[in-house]
Amino acid sequence: MKVLVDRYDPENGEKRTDTFEVPESACEGMTVMGLLGYLALHCDPTIAYYHHSVCDHGICGRCTLSVNGKTRLACITPLEGLKEVRLAPAPGRTVVRDLVTR
Ligand code: FES
Repeated sequence: MKVLVDRYDPENGEKRTDTFEVPESACEGMTVMGLLGYLALHCDPTIAYYHHSVCDHGICGRCTLSVNGKTRLACITPLEGLKEVRLAPAPGRTVVRDLVTR
């Protein structure tokens, strides 16, 4: 799966989009949150995103982001059926870093 992640570094104001390739086999049964964990573990540990260890069930809303242009909760959004995914900060929020907003 091709994964594009919009990045933002508040220290220098740089914006860019990083592209990653994740094996299809690794994505089976995975949510967007799982994908972010995979990217952080195997591709780039500097990607900033919310992972609420107590919630992770679509309750708190902190993991809200844009998935292929649609606002979604990362922890309950499955990757099933997607060949390519673009992750961006939730629209209408202030970007703190990468996918973290307030
Ligand atoms: S982690 Fe709380 S809604 Fe996703």
